[in-house]
Amino acid sequence: MAGELDGTVALVTGASSGIGQASARILASRGASVSLVARRVDRLDALAREIDGDGGRALAIQADVTDQEQAIGAVQRTVGELERLDIVVNNAGVMLLGPLLDAPTQEWDRMIALNLGGLLYVAHASLPHLLAAAEQEPRRVADLVNISSVAGRVARLGSGVYNLTKHGVGAFSESARQEFARGHVRVSVVEPGAVDTELPTHLRESVREQMMKRFEGIEILHPEDIADAIAYIVTRPRRVAINELLVRPTEQTG
Ligand SMILES: NC(=O)c1ccc[n+]([C@@H]2O[C@H](COP(=O)([O-])OP(=O)(O)OC[C@H]3O[C@@H](n4cnc5c(N)ncnc54)[C@H](OP(=O)(O)O)[C@@H]3O)[C@@H](O)[C@H]2O)c1
Repeated sequence: MAGELDGTVALVTGASSGIGQASARILASRGASVSLVARRVDRLDALAREIDGDGGRALAIQADVTDQEQAIGAVQRTVGELERLDIVVNNAGVMLLGPLLDAPTQEWDRMIALNLGGLLYVAHASLPHLLAAAEQEPRRVADLVNISSVAGRVARLGSGVYNLTKHGVGAFSESARQEFARGHVRVSVVEPGAVDTELPTHLRESVREQMMKRFEGIEILHPEDIADAIAYIVTRPRRVAINELLVRPTEQTG
């Protein structure tokens, strides 16, 4: 059966775990060749083997996207080896929560460097290729999907700098959407609620305990639920742009 994304190439950052890994799998299953970008290359190699084994095509690229040269290199290698770039899922991110007072400011630096800097470097390097793909068959449209968060819509006590970065992703995405609309590059922002991934494992112990309490007894999302939303966005007809998707667990109130 022909896949909806046959003949396209997708690059996914943060493909070594969580939402990125699930997104790469679903895009490959719809026919896209996928470029898998993250730092843990053993994980990327395993995922690439799995996708290849399932009849897809995947390329594992080790890169730290907070380094602009590595971000550019990942995009260039994708286009060099897979020959085009139709879809970018700008997903790599880190969430380091806690009170502002006495916060280790290296945590702020890490969030700003990755959630904003990395996302911008990948977007900047990708856009010329996305514009080119948007003029070509099979789709004559291209997609830049930026992963924000509920934290990009609602600011919460103890989440200030993460909120800052994710609100920034929303603002950047809307401005970019306007700039590239006529070029048929759709810029979308996805705002997940709580998803069962490695994200909270980077939190300091005391902060993690508090966060776990917040979601105690709630059935949180699976990475595949967000991957499904991303697949929905990138498989719409050329005339349809899903600008923003907010996806919470049913029981999540805030
Ligand atoms: N889980 C949630 O509840 C939730 C909710 C809202 C939004 N989000 C957002 O969803 C996105 C994905 O997070 P996740 O939940 O799937 O968490 P995750 O499992 O921790 O995945 C994060 C990914 O980012 C990659 N990464 C980290 N630093 C990187 C760097 N410098 N360069 C390249 N890749 C890097 C990691 O791979 P390596 O360590 O191998 O580099 C990993 O693959 C993030 O933007 C997050 O803010 C998550």
